[in-house]
Amino acid sequence: MSDKTTDMQRHEVDATPHKKQPSESIDFDDYAGSYDALMHESVGAYTSDVAYFAQYKVDFVKQRRARPVKKILEYGCGTGRNIPMLRDAFEEAEVIGTDISPASLDIARQHNPGIRFEVETPDLKLDGFDLVFVANVFHHIPPPERGGAMKVLSSRMAPDAEICIFEHNPFNPVTRRIVSTCPFDADAVLLRPSELRRLYDRSGIELVDQSYCLFVPPRFSGLLFLERHLTWLPLGGQYVVIGTPRA
Ligand SMILES: C[S@@+](CC[C@H](N)C(=O)[O-])C[C@H]1O[C@@H](n2cnc3c(N)ncnc32)[C@H](O)[C@@H]1O
Repeated sequence: MSDKTTDMQRHEVDATPHKKQPSESIDFDDYAGSYDALMHESVGAYTSDVAYFAQYKVDFVKQRRARPVKKILEYGCGTGRNIPMLRDAFEEAEVIGTDISPASLDIARQHNPGIRFEVETPDLKLDGFDLVFVANVFHHIPPPERGGAMKVLSSRMAPDAEICIFEHNPFNPVTRRIVSTCPFDADAVLLRPSELRRLYDRSGIELVDQSYCLFVPPRFSGLLFLERHLTWLPLGGQYVVIGTPRA
């Protein structure tokens, strides 16, 4: 881990966390049909191209993964918005999407023929993934259940796999405002990177890297090259924590 990451972790201890408590439980089945429209509404002031976020995250993962990827799990894939990007970026890989929302998976299947989707249940047995991709899911999992979810993900990873978890950055006021007005985020309890690192540690996952990301609005994409110098700064719209199974 770099010195910058260590500085960033120090900063985290001092920063005021987002203390929002969930006001209601969200069933994503109720939002499956309107998910895209609500995404547009939520981030409309930021960009009209909501696919930008999916492409950004997949590009981020692809650029830093040196080893071949044969099998990818997208956990909490929802309506499958990231799946086409994952499929295109890792052409040789089998991609499997899972979610607890069957209605979201029905939409994901319609948009992604040929891809395997499974409803997450305690009985679902999957393993041998080289890459586990998770985007904006953990803030919807009630805090007491997050450790169990991480152990499941850990059990599905091949020995040299990587897990990449993207989350909303609770230190970014714009992100907090977007989350506070988005109907399907009514149950969101944002988590700091330190919570993800702890969950990794307790599930036998070693930290590989942590980066803040999504600093530059899409309309200024010419400035994207600056982002690689800012990954330590806790002001990105989101962050990603990457781990690998402990040897
Ligand atoms: C904000 S959506 C994100 C969907 C997708 N990852 C994306 O980036 O478009 C959160 C998703 O997490 C799913 N989810 C919530 N808790 C989950 C859990 N314990 N296991 C799997 N998926 C879960 C929800 O059903 C929902 O589809």
